[in-house]
Amino acid sequence: MSADPTDGLQRAAERLCQARRVVVFTGAGMSAESGIPTFRDPGGLWERFRPEELATPEAFERDPDRVWAWYQERRRLMEAAPPNAGHLALAAMEPYFDEFTVITQNIDRLHQRAGSRRVLELHGTILANHCHYCGLPYEEELLPEKTAPICPACGGRVRPSVVWFGELLPEAVFTEAEHSIENCDVLLAVGTSGEVYPAAGLVRQAKLFGVTVVEINPKPTELTTVADIVVRESAARALPALLQLLRQYRQAGACSQ
Ligand code: APR
Repeated sequence: MSADPTDGLQRAAERLCQARRVVVFTGAGMSAESGIPTFRDPGGLWERFRPEELATPEAFERDPDRVWAWYQERRRLMEAAPPNAGHLALAAMEPYFDEFTVITQNIDRLHQRAGSRRVLELHGTILANHCHYCGLPYEEELLPEKTAPICPACGGRVRPSVVWFGELLPEAVFTEAEHSIENCDVLLAVGTSGEVYPAAGLVRQAKLFGVTVVEINPKPTELTTVADIVVRESAARALPALLQLLRQYRQAGACSQ
């Protein structure tokens, strides 16, 4: 398999040219060039913090204010972060296909802010909150920085609406994601280490349905052996280049539709 990004990009563009239904499966690397840290890269979040102390229901029940304050800091960063050229390229690619679904593990909503219209959030979003005990959505705009708010309905503590380790993914979202990957022609896996299940299992599941898998990541990952095409490049460089090639092929009449 060629490690030359250009070769991978050309092969990916040729395959996209023949595709009618596309899924893009994204992870933290998708937002790295927006200034949002990833988890498992050198200097990433799980190198500086212990997930069992900050990203589990037990951690929240043990110390709700500490967990809330950590997510509040991440929320501020994500609210201030701009969608990068990769997010924008994906949104611009959408009209070329009958179906174009972004399945993201990210909680930053940058795909939606870039204009992507069909986004499935497997791990929830940091830009919403709900009561950890009764589940009531917490709609207050003004949020404390250091203390988890009190639910007005039950007096429980309010948490960010993200999926923590040990929690189930939103069932309807995951079922829709499975349906999308089983019925697509090409799956682009962008900026994910492919280490966290059940999300990462979707890429392997796609292979079972004969889907062409393209990995876009500067480094090898758990998914590299599953990929048919590898583009060793960053999201914000590879995706605009892929969009440009796709446009060239379409203008040259080289695409099937
Ligand atoms: N462009 C593309 N990929 C990048 C870039 C970039 N600019 N920078 C880093 N990457 C790649 C890294 O090589 C790595 O493979 O992004 C990947 C990030 O991997 P992780 O940090 O493990 O993030 P992710 O795969 O999204 O983690 C999955 O784990 O902690 C949980 O819930 C959390 O959703 C997260 C899940």
